[in-house]
Formats: sequence, C-alpha cells, structure tokens
Amino acid sequence: MTLSVRIEQQGGPEVLQLVETSVPPPGPGQLRVRHEAIGLNFIEIYQRSGVYKIPLPGGLGAEAAGIVDAVGPEVGGFAVGDRIAYAGGPLGAYSEERLLPAANAVKLPAGVSSEAAAALMLKGMTAWYLLHQTFPVRPGHTLLVHAAAGGVASILVPWAKHLGAIVIGTAGSPEKAELAKAAGCDHVLLYRDREFAPEVRRLTDGAGVDVVYDSVGKDTFNGSLDSLRRRGMMVSFGNASGKVPPFEPILLSEKGSLFLTRPTLAHYTGTRPELEAAANALFEVIAKGIVQPQIRRRYPLREVARAQTELAGRHTTGSSVLLP
Ligand SMILES: NC(=O)c1ccc[n+]([C@@H]2O[C@H](COP(=O)([O-])OP(=O)(O)OC[C@H]3O[C@@H](n4cnc5c(N)ncnc54)[C@H](OP(=O)(O)O)[C@@H]3O)[C@@H](O)[C@H]2O)c1
Repeated sequence: MTLSVRIEQQGGPEVLQLVETSVPPPGPGQLRVRHEAIGLNFIEIYQRSGVYKIPLPGGLGAEAAGIVDAVGPEVGGFAVGDRIAYAGGPLGAYSEERLLPAANAVKLPAGVSSEAAAALMLKGMTAWYLLHQTFPVRPGHTLLVHAAAGGVASILVPWAKHLGAIVIGTAGSPEKAELAKAAGCDHVLLYRDREFAPEVRRLTDGAGVDVVYDSVGKDTFNGSLDSLRRRGMMVSFGNASGKVPPFEPILLSEKGSLFLTRPTLAHYTGTRPELEAAANALFEVIAKGIVQPQIRRRYPLREVARAQTELAGRHTTGSSVLLP
C-alpha cells in the first residue's frame, strides 16, 4: 500500500485527505513511478480551493520526479530503473507511487537530482515559454516581474538576466526583496502597500517596461498595465491574489495599444516535441549553472496541508518540495 492525497470536494486545506492505496501494474502506454520528490505549485491552491475546476473525487499535484518501477505494454524509450520527471499532470503527483502516461515523462540527466527536478520542472518550463515564446526577450528589454522572490520568478529572473534583460521585480517584504535582488533583479519594489507603476515609470525615464510577467492577478493587473510602454506586452499568467475581473478591451487602447495574453503551460508543452524542447532548454540552463534549484522548504508528503497553507499565505520563497 502507498500513500496518496485524495480530494472529494473543493475547499480549505482540510479537504486534503491522506489515503492508502495500492497502485496496479501499468496499462498500455503507462509507467508506474515511485516518487522521490514532488513539486508544490500555486496552481494546486486554485485547484484545491475551487478557483479552477478539477475532476472530483480525484488526486492533486502536477509535478514529481522519481524512479520507473514498472513499464506497461506499448511503451518505448523507458525501462525499469530510469530516473524520470514530469510536470503538468495528470493530477495525482501528491503520492508515493502512481501510474503516469509515458508520453508525459522525461528522463533526467545525471546532474539533476529528483529534488531539483521537482523544484524546477513545472516552474522552469513555465519560465522558458514565458521568456522564449510568449514574449521573446532580447538584450536590452526591460521586464517587470511580480512576486520576484517566488518559485517561478526565482527561475525566470536569472534566466532573463542571462538573456540580457533589465529586470524590475516586486516583492511582498524587505526580506523577499533581498532574495529577489540576489536572484538578479536590477531593482526591487515593495508593492504590498504602495503603488508600483509610478516607480516603474521613474525607473524607465517615463517610458514603461516592454513586458510585464504578472502572476498576482487581481491586485496588480491595473498597475501592470500602467507600467507598460506603448504597445507593450501584458503577460497575465497567474492569479495568486484572485482572478482579474472582466474589463472592456478599449482599456488596452487607452493605456497605449497594449497586447494582453493569458497563457498556460499545457498549451506550450502539449506535444512531445514541445515538451522535449522545453525540458531540454531547462536542462541546458541548469547544466550551465544559469538556473539553480532554490529549495527553501521541504515537507513530508503527510504535511501537504501545512505546505499549501504556507504557500497560499505568502510565507514561502523559491521552491518548496514534498517528500514521500
Ligand atoms: N500560467 C502558467 O503556465 C503558470 C505555470 C506555473 C505557475 N503559474 C503561476 O505563477 C505564479 C507563481 O507560482 P509559484 O508556484 O511559483 O508560487 P510563488 O510565486 O512561490 O507564490 C506566490 C506568490 O505570489 C505573491 N502574492 C501576491 N499576492 C498574493 C496573495 N494575495 N496571496 C498569495 N500570494 C500572493 C506572494 O509573493 P509576495 O509576498 O512577494 O507578494 C507569493 O509568495 C502563480 O500565480 C501560479 O499560478 C502559472
């Protein structure tokens, strides 16, 4: 029997149930994977609380790394004992062992531990598509990155600096501001109780930034639009403070003929070649030391409710992992 987390209805952290199950042999196209480390991601807060719909009852968790302990029929390219990781689901990563479509797994290079993979895969492939595809960052571009001490941003910021960008970060406390600076931000603004857009204008000689990477949502959306240059790109990729309320598209015209996109990882890694391109780009920057795992909290899987409470309560920085 192995431990996994089950959710029957959405709600507070108390809906996360620990259950013992037995994992059957893998079916066609599947691997059975024994997890060594599981990624903790903000999307799981939305999925647990009801901001996003999920199939119920079911599992939770989208990212983990571990060892293949059985290979189903019709699977090529994987063998028992392989070290693999996956990000983006299917839900059920909050578990000691699970079945996984082989199409979702990538083999880990020797230099990437399971903990590092669980800390980096989902957040790092997100950073990759945001910087390389959603808005291809070139030397000299100026970026505004919210929650710059957080998980995704702790990967995105050093990668953006490597690409030659100037990075303005925001952070929720002076301690987080220090971490954001250490990650590579050129400037960090405390945005909890003060408006950041006038400061961004001042730092850019009135011009505004080329792109905003906004994962905070409701609380920052308007300030982010006000921070952009004419025809700048608003990338709204998360809603940690709540969903952005509806608005009239004319607002984008009034604020400078702005572009707006609301991307999600699955639409950039949905095919095998896309997944491999994202994973390989990430493994390359890890191998070069440009991106490093910033694992600041480790929780036993049994303490998943505490882990989620601390992430949702803005108490974490960098990546957190759950350990089976
Ligand atoms: N679209 C995609 O493909 C994709 C993929 C991965 C992640 N994401 C999004 O990226 C964001 C970051 O994910 P993560 O797992 O790395 O989390 P994280 O950034 O480590 O944690 C979220 C951070 O958001 C900030 N925040 C601002 N207002 C908040 C509020 N009212 N409640 C809670 N947090 C608030 C906090 O930092 P401060 O205290 O510094 O403000 C908090 O630490 C999330 O919005 C997530 O949904 C999107």
